[in-house]
Amino acid sequence: MLEVDELVAGYETTQVLHGLSLRVEAGAATALLGANGAGKTTLMKTLAGLLPVRSGRLRFMGEDIGRLPSHQRVLAGLVLVPEGRMVFPSLSVIENLRLGAINPRARPNTPRNLEHVFHLFPRLLERQAQAAATLSGGEQQMLAIGRGLMAQPKLMLLDEPTLGLAPLMTRQIFQLAGRLVADGLTLLLAEQDVQQTLAAATQAYVVENGRIAAQGPAQDIADDPRIRQAYLGL
Ligand SMILES: Nc1ncnc2c1ncn2[C@@H]1O[C@H](COP(=O)(O)OP(=O)(O)O)[C@@H](O)[C@H]1O
Ligand SMILES: [Mg+2]
Repeated sequence: MLEVDELVAGYETTQVLHGLSLRVEAGAATALLGANGAGKTTLMKTLAGLLPVRSGRLRFMGEDIGRLPSHQRVLAGLVLVPEGRMVFPSLSVIENLRLGAINPRARPNTPRNLEHVFHLFPRLLERQAQAAATLSGGEQQMLAIGRGLMAQPKLMLLDEPTLGLAPLMTRQIFQLAGRLVADGLTLLLAEQDVQQTLAAATQAYVVENGRIAAQGPAQDIADDPRIRQAYLGL
């Protein structure tokens, strides 16, 4: 579904990704692991079109998307749920959700998609009129994912969804990720929770200093003592 070849990207004066290549297969979760500062978020932002591709190639569902503006990537079905949730704090839950649906492919289906999100997250239904700022961290993450789902993604880029959440909420987020994949969504999942991520994913990539340091079936990565020790702190 997604092919990244020799991607170079970064910020104004800092190059962060130094020729990074990976594949995301449709219908499964692919794990993106690596220490803080490895470049996972920079990759996610570049895939979403929030940072420019300096060189290399991005193909999504067979189409070169490297120069498409971010809203056209959303229209194509590539949707980022950003690190830190980034919900609009003063807007209500339902206003946040509606903002996820502004692309013309999703907008006509807003009532149906809202029903789907509220079915997945009954907490959001209960709190639909409440300002997002007043939600707990876990609820804000649900809202961020719900807002992403409102855009009708084909591939969801899920950046550190469990960061700062309690273990129970973390388990719920992983359960939800599994359910979304079972329902046909493709996921690229950047995470610090290595064990649960490897259990949820089929393929895994380990990022180090803006390059892929290890890759393979998630089970093989989980079982490789050298990779576990060198990159995953296990
Ligand atoms: N806005 C920014 N401007 C300059 N450098 C940044 C910016 N954001 C992140 N970086 C740097 O890019 C590198 C990769 O960061 P990031 O992609 O956030 O890593 P990760 O998500 O794997 O923790 C780090 O060295 C970080 O300091
Ligand atoms: Mg990050």
